[in-house]
This record gives sequence, C-alpha cells and structure tokens, in this order.
Amino acid sequence: MNYWDYIHVEELLALQGGFDDDEQKVSNDEALFIVVHQIYELWFKLILRELTSARELFRQNPVPDQKLASAARSFRRVVTIFEQAIQHFRVMETLTTRDYLDFRDRLIPASGFQSAQLREIEVLLGLDDALRIPLGREGSYKEALKTADGSPSSATRRLEARLASGPSLKHYLYEWLSRTPIDGSSEPEAVLRFLRNYMRSMRAENERRVQIAIDKALAPADVERLRARYEAENANAEAFLLAEDDPGADEATREKRRAVRAAIVFIESYRDLPRLAWPREVLDRILEMEQAMLIWRQRHARMVERVIGRRTGTGGSAGVDYLDQTALRYRVFGDLWTVRSLLLRQPSVPELEHASDYGFRVEDSP
Ligand code: HEM
Repeated sequence: MNYWDYIHVEELLALQGGFDDDEQKVSNDEALFIVVHQIYELWFKLILRELTSARELFRQNPVPDQKLASAARSFRRVVTIFEQAIQHFRVMETLTTRDYLDFRDRLIPASGFQSAQLREIEVLLGLDDALRIPLGREGSYKEALKTADGSPSSATRRLEARLASGPSLKHYLYEWLSRTPIDGSSEPEAVLRFLRNYMRSMRAENERRVQIAIDKALAPADVERLRARYEAENANAEAFLLAEDDPGADEATREKRRAVRAAIVFIESYRDLPRLAWPREVLDRILEMEQAMLIWRQRHARMVERVIGRRTGTGGSAGVDYLDQTALRYRVFGDLWTVRSLLLRQPSVPELEHASDYGFRVEDSP
C-alpha cells in the first residue's frame, strides 16, 4: 500500500471538471467554488458518522455510564469540524461578485439546498419538519432533491435511507433523559415534587433580583415594569417545566416532557455530583454542537450576502432572507437552550434528599 492508492489521490484530483467535465474549461474561481463545496461534503460525511455512533449509543437501554465519554467525544469532534468548516467561508469569500456571476447562471436550479448530507444531518439530529421553511420553487426539501422529471435522484435515495434508518438522536437522547432518576426516583410524583421545589426557588431568586433593583433606588414605575417582566419570566418557566406550554399535547406526552425537562434541570443543577458529571458533559457538548451549527448557518448567510447580495438564490429561495430564517428557526434541542434561562445560583438550588445515590459506586469485592 502507498499513500496515493490509499487516499485515492488521482481519483480525488479528477473530480473538478465542472459543467463539461473538462478541467481545461474551469476557471480558478470555479475550481475554488467546486473544491470548497466538495470539502464541505466530506466534513458532512464525518459529522454523519459521529452522529450515527452517538445515536446508536443512546438507542441502548440502559445507556452504559462509561459510554457517555465516547458520546461526548463524538460531539466534540463535530463541534471542531464545524469550527474548521466555518473558516472555509473565508476562502470562498475571495470570490468576488463579478467573478461568481461569470458562471453562476449556469448553475440554476442547482444549489446547496440540494445537499442531501446537510438534510441527513438535520434528520439524524431530529429537526422537527414543522419548523422547516418551505422553499419557493419546490415547496419542500424532499421535492428539491428530485430530478427535473420528478424521479428520485441519488440525493433522494440517500435521504430516504436516512429517514428509514430509525428515530433521531434527539428521540433517543430524550428517552434516556426521561429515565433519569430525579433525587432518587423516576416516578412522576417525584418529578413533580422536584419541579415544585425548584420553581419555588426560582421565584424567590427573581424576587431577590427585584429587591436588589429597589435597593438601588429604582423609580417606582421602573420597579413595576421590572416586576411584570420577572412575573412573566416565572410564568413562562413554570409552563415550560410543567409542560403546559403546548395545550394540544395529551397527558402522557406532557408527563414525558416534564420528565425530560426535569432531568435537564437536575443534571445541570447538581453537576458536581460524580454520577451526573458525564451526563452534564454530554448535554453541554450537544448544546455546543447546535451552537456551532447555528453559527455555520449564520456565517454562510453573511458570506452569501457578501458575494451575491440579497438576490434570489440559484435554488429559487429568497436567498439571504431564507438562510437567516433557517439560522433563527432550525433548532433541534430547544429544551437545552430554554433550561439555560432557568438555572439558579448555587446557594438557591434546593437541597437533595438522596444526594448519596449520585456518588461513585463502590463495587462489592469478590
Ligand atoms: C459563493 C458561494 C455561495 C453562495 C452564493 C451560496 C448561496 C446560497 C443560497 C442563496 C442558498 C439558499 C438556497 C437557494 O435559493 O439557492 C444556499 C443554500 C445552501 N448552501 Fe450555499 N452558497 C455558497 C456556498 C456554499 C458552500 C461553500 C456551501 C458548503 C457546503 C454551501 C452550502 C449550502 C447549503 C447546505 C444550503 C442549504 C441551506 C438550508 O437549506 O438550510 N453553500 N446557498
């Protein structure tokens, strides 16, 4: 074995033929455009591998504690890849508007919107279809992957295989979270008891904040405004924790949501307990991963705005406006983000009755 055979260097270097599959006819600008996209697709491939492994891990019941470190490592790798990939937009930006216009129209209707792997990442993570923004020309992300005559393309088949591969990472992660014993018990009453205690502490903490503002000689009208703001914050937090924020949900769904949300608050609040350290690391890495992906979306949008302004995309969308919308709406792990608004200072966190359950386990000697 040698390097060139193992890496398939010749095959790799023969993939930049452009429209006519003839590299002689490809300008340096177009070669850059093709190569940067190809590099991204390779990064997406690696991201999909890591997410698949993590999904398989959380599919297990119970999830072995010692495997959580592997999951955290996968998420860290995904974050690092996104961070590196974001830098590639700098290279893309060396393409000026006029240089791009030289070959852009020939691309229509091709677009990154047809990247099956980005859609696979979203599906694997568990992006809710209801959040998706319909695209102008095709109406749906699945339609956009079909060939011009409506038959399935290689991209369609790729996406269909992913959709058929089973529930998402979010699904299994939430199953795992819902099994977390809250202060020693997973019973719905124990979950509710924990949440009620926690909400009491949240209210007390916000009341303390209003008092600090009063002590600092806030005008009475400002105090009222502030009080109303904290009151709305408390009410929203309680509706979220008790899963009363979706009136359409049935009681079984709400019970499950309460268990998931209580588990996130619990893991984040008592993260110093040894057996919660890895779960907490996992949640932090997932949030970081979603953050990196949102930054990727925003960065892509700013690069696009710089290169083509606000014109219609080759894929037929509203261009930058569409991309900015995806960066705002395409969140998978909304509960993890919401809990960040609810966390308390250490002294305000309610005391646990069964903290010792979360210490290191000492195996019986044989
Ligand atoms: C000059 C460079 C680029 C321009 C002007 C550009 C422009 C656009 C536009 C306008 C869209 C919205 C869909 C449409 O109407 O076409 C889009 C979507 C997309 N682009 Fe780019 N793009 C560029 C480079 C890249 C690169 C290097 C990647 C790397 C993979 C990429 C990946 C994507 C993806 C994945 C989408 C779909 C986003 C979504 O639907 O959430 N683009 N691009």
